[in-house]
Amino acid sequence: MDATTFKDFQAIAYEKAGIFLREGKAALVQARLAKRLRELGLATEREYLDRLRADGGEEVVLFLDAISTNFTRFFREPDHFDTLRDEVAAARAGGQRRFRFWCAASSSGEEPYTIAAVLDPVLEGCDWRLLATDISTRVLGRAQAGVYGPEEIDGIPPDVLPRVMERVPPGEDGHERWAVRDRFKERIVFRRLNLAVHPYPMSGPLDAIFCRNVMIYFDRPMRAGVVGEFERLVRPGALLFIGHAETLNGIPTRFRSERPSVYRLAREAR
Ligand SMILES: C[S@@+](CC[C@H](N)C(=O)[O-])C[C@H]1O[C@@H](n2cnc3c(N)ncnc32)[C@H](O)[C@@H]1O
Repeated sequence: MDATTFKDFQAIAYEKAGIFLREGKAALVQARLAKRLRELGLATEREYLDRLRADGGEEVVLFLDAISTNFTRFFREPDHFDTLRDEVAAARAGGQRRFRFWCAASSSGEEPYTIAAVLDPVLEGCDWRLLATDISTRVLGRAQAGVYGPEEIDGIPPDVLPRVMERVPPGEDGHERWAVRDRFKERIVFRRLNLAVHPYPMSGPLDAIFCRNVMIYFDRPMRAGVVGEFERLVRPGALLFIGHAETLNGIPTRFRSERPSVYRLAREAR
């Protein structure tokens, strides 16, 4: 793909989703768009660009689906879940009975189901809900289905697996499959939400937000906008978890670092 075409894709990705496609990603973008070009019967990326610009929005969703990286795992960066468990157990012991959580780039569901698996025993008898959002409708579909293969369930501790999932008949490929149990799915609401579009259409106050391994694709102004929205939606003292490779350094915020990748909103005035 020529440099001008790549720059045009870069501009659309940034404008629509805040995603910053670095120079040097042209080959990757080309490879990821190849399938969509074939489906549409288009010969060149330039033609696809024209289609994208002419489209009212649906093709933009598919474009963002194609270029976004959805890698995730159950129990990824596991220390965060220990922190969440301890935090929530302490709040419950202190008398709190209503909890609201948000997983803000939930990909194919492994992260929100991990959160639900951790919260379930601690919050038995409480009113708790988890909102799980992503920009990609493709991964949200997989998340809502909640069915995973043997490689995907790999990271789930053996004592947790049967509590959270049940074996279901193999798929067409003959591989064993596991489905998330209904009582975990019932706790989670899956929605499409673009972190680049403000204000976010929900009301707080939230007790914790997971926004992991997505801000790495955003530049600083975009990150500052996202974090500003999080501040608005959480209660004082709430936790924000970001990816281990990410940081809020250089962003003006009332979130204070507890340790790398774990932040807490200052308890003074909201
Ligand atoms: C690398 S995955 C991380 C998934 C999970 N949070 C984790 O840490 O395992 C990044 C996710 O961010 C989503 N994403 C990218 N840009 C986004 C945006 N502007 N708004 C919402 N989600 C976005 C992608 O679709 C993808 O599912």
